Parts: sequence; structure tokens; C-alpha cells
Amino acid sequence: MSSGGGTVVDRGLEGIVVGATAISQVEGAEGRLSYRGYDIGDLAAHAGFEEVCFLLLFGELPTLAQRDDIGVRLAANRGLPRQVLEWMESVPKDAWPMDVLRTIVSGLAVFAPHQSDGVHASTPRSAIALIAKTPTIVAAWDRIRRGLRPIEPMPGLSTAANFLYMRSGRAPAPEAERALDAYFVLLADHSYNPSTFAARVTASTRADIFASATAALAALDGDLHGGAPGKVMKMLLDIGTPERADDYVRAVLERGERIMGMGHREYKVRDPRALRLDALSRELGESSESKWHVLARKVEAAAEAALRESKPQHEIHANVEFYTAPTLHSLGIPADEFSGIFACARMAGWTAHILEQLGDNRLIRPRASYSGPPSRTWEPIGQRSPS
Ligand code: COA
Repeated sequence: MSSGGGTVVDRGLEGIVVGATAISQVEGAEGRLSYRGYDIGDLAAHAGFEEVCFLLLFGELPTLAQRDDIGVRLAANRGLPRQVLEWMESVPKDAWPMDVLRTIVSGLAVFAPHQSDGVHASTPRSAIALIAKTPTIVAAWDRIRRGLRPIEPMPGLSTAANFLYMRSGRAPAPEAERALDAYFVLLADHSYNPSTFAARVTASTRADIFASATAALAALDGDLHGGAPGKVMKMLLDIGTPERADDYVRAVLERGERIMGMGHREYKVRDPRALRLDALSRELGESSESKWHVLARKVEAAAEAALRESKPQHEIHANVEFYTAPTLHSLGIPADEFSGIFACARMAGWTAHILEQLGDNRLIRPRASYSGPPSRTWEPIGQRSPS
């Protein structure tokens, strides 16, 4: 908190309550996250992503028939317009996957019907379409940039299984499907995080669900938010072996840089999602003999110890992105696609928040404390001296 011209400024809105939500609750001190009252540990253990989509959008866990119905509706919406796939074919193969995803989500609006003022319907139906299409976009770009033809979604597969199938052309191993499904559940929502807040600010102007989801995708990309896991993976790859972890993280801090995947605005204990992804990546590591979980554990311990020494006034622990890296890497997903996979999960939360915002809307318009020059006298252009 700082003071500018007598006004108290809360930089980064830390601790400021800017709205209400019934969708999810973050209890940072306790390290607890729940969706509509259900602990994410229970949801990740027992519910599939489709059930969680229903819970986030409609407020209650589905019955069997409702779960099947949302599964059918997601499956029916997974396909992409032919023109979108053609456009993807024309994109430079080294394009950043999040640039492609954000552009296409925005572009999907032109294929959807709109009112005379250009606004598209923001409804559970359009939310389900966006949730369904996001993994298809990520998987299609993965193949197109590798010079392969995109694979049509397969009816009857879950969101997680379909995504893995659309990347590889093979039905995934059950443990891979389970792991990705649990990842999608864990990442589906997180209250007023920056991308969700961006979505709600955009929706509060009465912009529609496509515009608001695009704003969310733009905010997700930065490495203080959803851009971090790819950089965690780069760090793990650079470190390579556990013996190098201590020196590496200390050198990062000596250079005044941040250790990716560590720290969180809300959690002052280990992020509850990191706790569960840690277990998931261990199970995946055991089934695939991947070493990444072992290395991640060692790097986390080294980072915690180094941060305790260099930032004793702060509680800095592993966040969700730290164990996203070994989990997704063990599933064969390249690091530059991690943020897009995050978006596949979070599209459920974003769209639920957009509908909640529109359901009880008031324009979100905060104030700023002015910090520029005081009032000045206008000078005609010919009389100005160079600055
Ligand atoms: N590595 C090194 N130092 C860190 C750190 C990290 N990962 N996270 C926080 N800090 C330090 C800051 O340098 C700052 O130190 P100072 O007081 O000496 O200047 C202090 O902790 C507070 O940081 P601040 O940026 O004010 O906290 P925040 O609540 O705004 O930050 C994050 C939250 C997530 C942005 C921050 O922890 C971070 O940058 N983490 C790394 C990126 C990351 O993992 N992003 C994904 C988030 S889910």
C-alpha cells in the first residue's frame, strides 16, 4: 500500500475485495480451494471435468442424466469451422501457441450469430461451445505446426481423452486420461485471479462472452500468471540433475530474478493444487519412469530453502504451476503448450464468471491516483522548446 497525493493506493489490489462470487473460494491461509462449496481435493479424486463444468456453470453437481447431457453437448460442440482450420494452416509454424489460441477464440465470434448491435448471446450454451472448442484449437495447432493434419474429435471420449487423442491420433492410456482430467478439474477455477478479473471487467461493459474470454486469454499469458509453467519446465530442463538444484536457484535469486512456480498472492502455504499435482506427477513418473517428478521435488526444496534465506519476511511456497510442469511434460506435452492447456481448464471458470457478472452487472471502473505533472499552460506548437 502506498500513498499518492494524499490518496491511499493499493498497488496490485492486494487484499482488496472488488466483488462477490458464488463460484469458487480461495482460503489462502489454510491452503484451501473449493468450487461452490466442494473441496477441490474431493472433486479431483471423484468428479470428472464434465461434472465440474456443470457445477461451475449451473451451481450444483449434475445427476447422472445431466452429466451425460453436458458430455453430449460438449462433444457436439468440439468441431471447428473449416475456415478456422484453413487459417491455422496459413500461420507461421513458429507462432506462439497462445497467440494462435487467443486469436482463434476471438475469431470464433464471427461465426456465431449476433444481434443488430453486434453483441453475441452470452449463455450457458455459448459457454459450453467455448469450453468444448478450446482443447480442439490447442490440439489442432499442435499438429499443424508439426506439419501434420488435425484430427477430428471423437464422440464418446471425455474432454481429457479427446484432447490427448486429437494430439496423437491414439486413444490415451487410462492413467494419462485420469491425470489430465484431474489437472483440468484442479485448474478449472480460482476466484478473482487476474485472467478471470480481466474477463469480468470486460463483461461488465456488457461486452459479450467471446470478447470477455479473449480478454481472459490475453491476461493468462504473462509469467506472473498462466505463462509460468512453461518457464518452470525450462528451469527443470536447464537444471537437469538434482545435484545442480541448489546452485541454480541461488544464482537465479542473486541475479534478482524470480523462481518460476514459487509464490502466490493468496496462498501463504503450499498451494493446494500443487499438493495434488505433486501426487499426480509422482504417479505419472512411476508409470512412465519419468525422472521429472524427482527433480521437481528437489528443486522445490532448494527454492524454498533459498527463498527462506533471501526473503525471510515473505512466505513463498510452490504454486500450481510448479507441478503443472512435470505433470504435463510426463504426458508428452511440450512446454510452450502448457499455458494453452491451462486455458482449456480455465475456460470453464472464465465462462461461469462471465455469466455470473452479466447476471448481476455493474460496470467495474476503479479510480487511480494521478501521478503526472500538475496543471500546465497550453503552448502553441511553434513556441515549444525540445524536452
Ligand atoms: N522468486 C523470488 N522472489 C519472489 C518470488 C519468486 N517466485 N515470489 C515472490 N517473491 C518476492 C518478491 O521479489 C518480493 O520481494 P521484495 O519484497 O524483497 O521485493 C516479495 O516476494 C513479494 O512479491 P510480490 O511480487 O509483491 O508478491 P505478489 O503477491 O505480487 O506475487 C507472484 C505473486 C505469483 C506474482 C510471485 O510470487 C511470482 O512472481 N512468482 C513467480 C511467477 C509464478 O510462479 N507465477 C505463477 C503464479 S500462479
